[in-house]
Order: sequence, then structure tokens, then C-alpha cells
Amino acid sequence: MIVCSCNMLRDSDVAQAAASQPLRVTQVHACLGCRPRCGGCFATIKQILDSTMPQGSAPAEACYAQ
Ligand code: FES
Repeated sequence: MIVCSCNMLRDSDVAQAAASQPLRVTQVHACLGCRPRCGGCFATIKQILDSTMPQGSAPAEACYAQ
């Protein structure tokens, strides 16, 4: 399912990025090689992160995946 129509990011892309390291919503796009535009996907991405990241894990300080 596409969760970010501005960047054509799928829910599986977000879940895979979050599985490799704990992320904040604002870090997801950079980790996937793009930038947020409208921000309309933030709530959905937050839900995916909440369901993917282990409880109590601290988000990464930065992502240098590019
Ligand atoms: S839908 Fe993700 S930035 Fe627009």
C-alpha cells in the first residue's frame, strides 16, 4: 500500500527502514532517499513506526542511508 503519494513510498518501505534502526517520523523520508513534501503521510508513517519499533526503543539521531 502506498503511504506517501508524494514520494510513492509503500508501507513495506517504511517498515523495512524502521526495522533496521529506530526512526522518528521526520527521519523516514531521508532514510528512504527522499524528502517530505506535503506531510500528509506523517500520521500513517507514525502508526507504522509505532507498530514496527520495539517498545522503549530510542529513535536514531540521524540517518545517513543515502
Ligand atoms: S504524502 Fe508524504 S509528503 Fe506528501
